[in-house]
Amino acid sequence: MIEDLRHQNNPVKLPSSSGLAKYGGSEMAINDPGQGASAGTWGSNEAAEEWRRVAAERARFFGPVTERMLDLADIRVGSRVLDIGAGAGDQALAAARRVGPTGLVLATDISANMLETAAISARQEGLSNVDTRVMDAQTLDLPSASFDTAISRFALMLVPDIDEALRQIRRVLRPSGKFAAIVFEKCPYLSIPHAIARRVGQLTSPPEPFGEFRLAGHGVMADAYKNAGFHDVAIHPFSARRQFPSLADAVRYAKETPLPLRELMGRLTPTQHEQAWADVEQVLQQFVGPDGYDSPCDFLIGVGTK
Ligand SMILES: C[S@@+](CC[C@H](N)C(=O)[O-])C[C@H]1O[C@@H](n2cnc3c(N)ncnc32)[C@H](O)[C@@H]1O
Repeated sequence: MIEDLRHQNNPVKLPSSSGLAKYGGSEMAINDPGQGASAGTWGSNEAAEEWRRVAAERARFFGPVTERMLDLADIRVGSRVLDIGAGAGDQALAAARRVGPTGLVLATDISANMLETAAISARQEGLSNVDTRVMDAQTLDLPSASFDTAISRFALMLVPDIDEALRQIRRVLRPSGKFAAIVFEKCPYLSIPHAIARRVGQLTSPPEPFGEFRLAGHGVMADAYKNAGFHDVAIHPFSARRQFPSLADAVRYAKETPLPLRELMGRLTPTQHEQAWADVEQVLQQFVGPDGYDSPCDFLIGVGTK
């Protein structure tokens, strides 16, 4: 199927429904309200709207690590690429530019609203090789061995059953196909609020790193890949810096961006909540200089081969 599509120079058209049969499985409209409503933190229109609002900021700060992930994923002209937890589609569109008109990118996510943003951006950019489908990473409704490469940016660690998602991703890759994913390792404007929420709320559950940081820490990501059957697993650290015009902007971003941190903070009483954010501001003050907020932000790019 992959070869057929490449040689026929047969790009997927947006909107996506006509292209869906290419991947097999059942068709799911990207505006399915049930899917959107069950997509948790990212299901709502507001979440997608907030994600759209900070698109330029994302491109500036996450562009370099995204390009590095695409290099490590070995994406080539004509590749068929699966994007897991594609959200507003930044990395899917970047992959689509690389694969060109003879390749394909299928952007999947549990949030229909986020995918709609991705589809609109692809259309605006004139990229006809991007398709979108609402799909849970734990139950990929796609034929086995149908993609050359899979990618995921800031999403794998959020899937409830990471092991099952990795097994599914491996299943849909062709033999020797690669999977590359970016996750957070340490990033003060998020990791500090996490730690403070736990302390102020005396939260002992879950005992292990939560949400954004579930795949952080030595060996965690590599073990997950290996347990799913990937070989030649390599975890590449990537250090970046994160800037905001001011401390208030950094705190606002942490508060308003739809991320699991909200869920953690949501477990606090109103008084604890206020206390926690006041403490966050105080601790993050160490990263404020003459040009505003500026802190390191470390990522891991996990790569594995089927
Ligand atoms: C932090 S956002 C990242 C979006 C995008 N990849 C980016 O880097 O801009 C995480 C995304 O993962 C999606 N997601 C969370 N759990 C998922 C699951 N079980 N299956 C598929 N997508 C999921 C969310 O809906 C959300 O769009």
